[in-house]
Amino acid sequence: MAGTTSNTIVVPGRFGSYTVTKRLATTFMSVVYKAQNNQGREVAIKLGPRNEIKAEYDLMGQVSSPHIVKPVSTGCYSGPQCVDMPASFYGKPLGYLAMEFLEGITLDKYLRRPNLCHFIPEEVVDQIFKISEGLLPLWDNGNIHGDIKAYNVMDLPRGLVLFDFNIGAIYSIGAQNGYGSVVLGSLGYLAPERHLHGAVPLLSWDFFGIGALIYLLACGKSYLSARDPLKSKEQMILKSRDHDAEYNFKFLSEPWRSFMMKICHHDPNRRVADPRRFLCELEELRRKASDGLKIV
Ligand SMILES: Nc1ncnc2c1ncn2[C@@H]1O[C@H](COP(=O)(O)OP(=O)(O)O)[C@@H](O)[C@H]1O
Ligand SMILES: [Mg+2]
Repeated sequence: MAGTTSNTIVVPGRFGSYTVTKRLATTFMSVVYKAQNNQGREVAIKLGPRNEIKAEYDLMGQVSSPHIVKPVSTGCYSGPQCVDMPASFYGKPLGYLAMEFLEGITLDKYLRRPNLCHFIPEEVVDQIFKISEGLLPLWDNGNIHGDIKAYNVMDLPRGLVLFDFNIGAIYSIGAQNGYGSVVLGSLGYLAPERHLHGAVPLLSWDFFGIGALIYLLACGKSYLSARDPLKSKEQMILKSRDHDAEYNFKFLSEPWRSFMMKICHHDPNRRVADPRRFLCELEELRRKASDGLKIV
């Protein structure tokens, strides 16, 4: 059985006990659908290469927080290869994971809204603190989320909610099979050493991504473009690789400057590496964020 979306692309009709009602997104890595079971329970279903989907489901299961998406079930997909699937799926065994349906907008869309009211710094830090606290069990197990960014956070009435553990899943598979040579993650959130081929993941990559996200939400622009605007993607790649904390954060007022220097330092040895220390730094910033974020 196959359902149709409003633009009449054929989609898989069923995943386990769930019937697809809508296609939500197609990316390079996955296709995400909205679906419901016969009790009317709505879920989001992510379809992708089976080993990655299984690893992603396992990572989601390591955490339990209202600020992190909840997994529901996982399974193998053996239905047809459909026209809306990314070419990277072809010939691979596929799997799906069902998770709670997040009814909101992602922060990147929020940030692109006209007449945007920027987040209040205290609120930003408070919300991100809650997400970070939720990630603690994952970090304690030596895993990372790997892709903390505005695109992967939903703004909901209950607060901000993080989803998309795909890159962390790829790294957790890499921990057993060796790390690949592809740079994974998004520009503007990457610790500079992530540009090195085959870099072994560090917990501080997540802390760095969180620091970059806090900066973006509180200032409305990337820390990379704080001092001079980015003109092209190439310039962004170069700046991200050559990021210099002393240069980029020198003009921030305290306590923001010292926070960013410890969390988003270009030298991994000068970055906070321990999850509890990271939470203490965030807590400290949360208490002092009302001192204001100024570029002085
Ligand atoms: N649980 C969910 N509830 C609602 N929409 C979701 C959910 N998970 C993903 N989506 C939608 O699908 C898109 C892609 O999902 P994501 O997990 O980020 O995939 P990818 O790993 O391919 O980036 C998201 O940007 C969002 O619009
Ligand atoms: Mg994503």
